[in-house]
Amino acid sequence: MSDKICLVILAAGQGTRMKIGMPKPLVPLMNRPILDYVLDACLAFKRQKVNDASVSLVIGHQSEQMIAHIERYYSSSKFHITRQQQQLGTADAVKSFLTQFPDVMSNKYIFILSGDVPMVSVEHLEGIYREISTHNLKAVVATVTAANPTGYGRVLSHTTGLSIVEEKDASSEVKKIQKINTGLYVFETKYLKDCIDKISNNNKSREFYLTDVFQAGSPVGAVNFERGEDLLGINTLEQLEETSKRLNRRNLISLSQQGVRFWDFDSTFIEPSVVMASGTVVYPNVIIEGNSKIGQGCTIGAFSHLKDVEFADGVCIKSHSVLEGCKVAAQVEIGPFARLRPGANLGTKAKIGNFVEVKKSTIGPGAKISHLSYVGDAIIGDNTNIGCGFITCNYDGVQKHVTKIGKDCFIGSDSQTIAPVEIGDNCFVASGSTINTSMPDGSFGISRGRQTTHLNMAKKFLKTKQD
Ligand code: UD1
Ligand code: MG
Repeated sequence: MSDKICLVILAAGQGTRMKIGMPKPLVPLMNRPILDYVLDACLAFKRQKVNDASVSLVIGHQSEQMIAHIERYYSSSKFHITRQQQQLGTADAVKSFLTQFPDVMSNKYIFILSGDVPMVSVEHLEGIYREISTHNLKAVVATVTAANPTGYGRVLSHTTGLSIVEEKDASSEVKKIQKINTGLYVFETKYLKDCIDKISNNNKSREFYLTDVFQAGSPVGAVNFERGEDLLGINTLEQLEETSKRLNRRNLISLSQQGVRFWDFDSTFIEPSVVMASGTVVYPNVIIEGNSKIGQGCTIGAFSHLKDVEFADGVCIKSHSVLEGCKVAAQVEIGPFARLRPGANLGTKAKIGNFVEVKKSTIGPGAKISHLSYVGDAIIGDNTNIGCGFITCNYDGVQKHVTKIGKDCFIGSDSQTIAPVEIGDNCFVASGSTINTSMPDGSFGISRGRQTTHLNMAKKFLKTKQD
């Protein structure tokens, strides 16, 4: 693309139909603000098609929150910010841009996007650009044919040109028209500037409508896109839910094309940020969020909820497990009903069983914590076996303390360690013990009642166990 262009996102509106008291562009759609999807589409278009394009945002309502968001998440992208003082309508928002953007006339075309159409893509932008540049038009609108056009501007075709009538101003006949305005346009800059000053607010909403640029007899056109639901704007929470499902389904289809097998698209929610490798199977009712990376050939059991996890290959999560911020090596088995909290780091072939909680702990390769335990702020050595009902007592009411347990230990059921405490390699803790002093390598610990005894006979016990 050789023409100089700018992309402008209108995001100053109040979003009153959402009724949730936050700026609509920042309302989360699958955990990311609606606006971010539009910004990403603009940045991708710039990267792929026209590197020196500028991206602008028109903001107004609750602008401090909008600026804070942009500075936090898009600090490296140089957006031009325009402020619309009063939200008088989409034409007024564009007017704010035209008067505030430096050297605006040096751009041949201006693309206008709505901050509430998150599934807009590079292909849509390319489609309207192709239409305006090859047919020598002055303005092109992206339209779709909607099964339910209620709430959207209806597009009327004329012998030459087209016009757009807003829902509030439409007659019952016009309301039957299913071809709708998506709020995505490209204009020749000079034409837009000439038209915008002539737009009045003589309509039911008393707003300045950008859609009034489109008039019968004018050199304007439209591109009607298939899969129209991708271009539907979000004005209500119901539309947010519908868009969330569409976005999710598109993502699941793309993952399944890469070899991830889903039992049920309808009950599985996977954020677009999640990376999954082939051969993995996902059971119904699973949610995976954040910066999660799932390796090859993993199994994610039903009703599991994962966030910011990193799995190597062949990890098996049994049903009803909740994992957040943890790193899991190959062939680890977790669950059912396990909870891994941030900082849990599991070595190869480790096993975490039912009703086990692990927080900020490293569990060595081959170690097993199979039933009903709490392990926090701990380091557990390779192949150590922890029995049922074990607790690292890590908190003294003021500070957290570390528990270290070495390799090849056997920790009997219903035991506790009072941190800080260190148990060496090859130790044996008898069931029901409370260990509050450190144990050297190869020692035996038993405390039932008031005394803790260490005997250097763990090897004998472990040997008996193996026999
Ligand atoms: C608009 C179109 C409608 C189209 C629909 C598609 C107009 C008049 N109507 O209606 O034909 O079918 O989008 O989704 O354009 N905004 C501002 N400043 C304002 C008003 C709005 O920046 O003063 C921004 C909003 O933040 C939003 C976008 O413009 O991102 C569209 O505004 P919205 O109120 O959602 O318009 P719709 O009623 O959806
Ligand atoms: Mg809208």
